[in-house]
Amino acid sequence: MQLEDDNGNLIAFEADPASPADDQRATEAGLIVVREVLQLRRSLPLQRVSSCECRPFRPGADDAEFLRINNLAFEWHPDQSGWSQQHLAKRMQEPWFDPLGFLILEENEAMVAFCWTKVHPATTKEPALGEIYVIGVDPVAHGRGLGTEIVIAGLEHLSGLGITTGMLHVESDNTAALHMYDRLGFTVHSSHRWWALPGSPVPSTTTPGVPT
Ligand SMILES: CC(C)(COP(=O)(O)OP(=O)(O)OC[C@H]1O[C@@H](n2cnc3c(N)ncnc32)[C@H](O)[C@@H]1OP(=O)(O)O)[C@@H](O)C(=O)NCCC(=O)NCCS
Repeated sequence: MQLEDDNGNLIAFEADPASPADDQRATEAGLIVVREVLQLRRSLPLQRVSSCECRPFRPGADDAEFLRINNLAFEWHPDQSGWSQQHLAKRMQEPWFDPLGFLILEENEAMVAFCWTKVHPATTKEPALGEIYVIGVDPVAHGRGLGTEIVIAGLEHLSGLGITTGMLHVESDNTAALHMYDRLGFTVHSSHRWWALPGSPVPSTTTPGVPT
């Protein structure tokens, strides 16, 4: 994405992966970073076992509870907030969707956390990547170690498939998640940055109203 005003002046652009040359270009145009999403990676398996007794997601039966927790946990998120049944259904129709890799943690028979994983097959440039695609804990249960344990369970699932590189995306200002991933040994692999004029709104990767 790149935007110019009527006079051809650069007013917004994005780069993934972002480089120092992109920063320089932004500075020269008077633009600031308005959003940054980090890609973190770590080798698998972890030398740690999850205490979670998770079960796979049940399409249909679990939809409403997943959407409730997702929309509470990600209320502030530019892409992941305000999900509808349509957003979920679209992903469940993707060829990569596998309910066995979509882990659900319950307490007293009620969902409290989920960890949805996604496998990216190896390419000529990249090894197979096991992604922690979406992970969320019901806000009433935050800070009890559930997020950490369900991420470990997700990584165990991925390494059980023979994947040796774990990967995820996280907003650079998501302090809680960054702390959790740092403790789990993830490090920054690359950065996706958006620059715009000061005061510009935070960009979403989705078009409003269209589930992507
Ligand atoms: C990120 C999230 C999953 C963490 O779940 P959680 O169950 O609260 O996390 P844990 O209790 O396992 O805590 C993990 C670590 O993060 C720390 N932590 C938790 N919340 C924190 C916060 N708000 N600020 C700083 N550190 C925090 C904990 O102290 C713990 O650190 P420690 O291991 O050094 O003690 C949860 O906050 C959440 O659902 N957030 C919204 C969705 C989200 O951001 N998902 C990740 C997107 S990539």
